[in-house]
Amino acid sequence: MIDISNLNYKYKHGQTVLEDINLRINQGEIVSIIGKNGSGKSTLARLISAITMPETGTILIDGIDTRDQERFIEIRKNIGIVFQNPENQIIFNNVHDDMIFALDNLGIENQEERIQEALKQVQMEEYINHDTYELSLGQKQRITIAGVLSIKPKYIVMDEPTAMLDPEGKEEIRKIIKELKKLGYTIIYITNIIDEIFISDRVIMLEKGKIIKEFKTKDILENIQFLKDHKIAIPKVVELMEKLKKNGINIDINDFI
Ligand SMILES: Nc1ncnc2c1ncn2[C@@H]1O[C@H](COP(=O)(O)OP(=O)(O)OP(=O)(O)O)[C@@H](O)[C@H]1O
Ligand SMILES: [Mg+2]
Repeated sequence: MIDISNLNYKYKHGQTVLEDINLRINQGEIVSIIGKNGSGKSTLARLISAITMPETGTILIDGIDTRDQERFIEIRKNIGIVFQNPENQIIFNNVHDDMIFALDNLGIENQEERIQEALKQVQMEEYINHDTYELSLGQKQRITIAGVLSIKPKYIVMDEPTAMLDPEGKEEIRKIIKELKKLGYTIIYITNIIDEIFISDRVIMLEKGKIIKEFKTKDILENIQFLKDHKIAIPKVVELMEKLKKNGINIDINDFI
């Protein structure tokens, strides 16, 4: 479980970016985090992934405080992060070299086996000896996901992983997430594409650094007005349902999600 309590954060020379965040994420859950630009999503992603440390409040990953320096390796093995731009996450020119680097750093054995298994999970196994610069952005993103999977963390944070990809690339990443859900991974999925919330069980909405709404994805209809009031786009399927309803056709949202 990820347990965030009374978390506050501000950058060195800035204003408060996250304020009094209290959030529990259970094992096996897929949670979307939505919110306008600058609402604090990426800052929260870095804090949960133990890249940044809380100023006040605590983040516990399976009971381990992310600030606990002595258990840093344990934390790194337990939680991984995928960023928006895979170009910033791939360091080496070769897929295999890039993947082995992270495993070496964490002193993980069975490296070859893990690399092959992870590449298979993202359907990139034939690319093991390819040069990374030959890959499309979508393929690069799959490699960064494989890199995280090779470590076998329980928790994965994804910060707008599809934002830079074309529709096909986006769909491939979503498919991978659905597979990971079946395998019991816990995923914190940050997105600014409202339709993507349907891959998650629960939605957390941030505004100006605060959690202003939490709802189960299946209860989206009861929360549409709230999204509208906060100038967040509504999912296309809900838009379509509303149009059909005006024409006397009632469709159950559960048929879509
Ligand atoms: N390194 C930094 N130094 C100072 N301020 C920062 C830094 N990174 C982000 N901020 C500020 O913190 C606030 C939250 O930024 P953050 O990147 O977490 O938002 P976000 O919700 O991820 O936005 P986006 O949708 O654009 O990705 C913004 O006001 C931003 O300007
Ligand atoms: Mg961001």
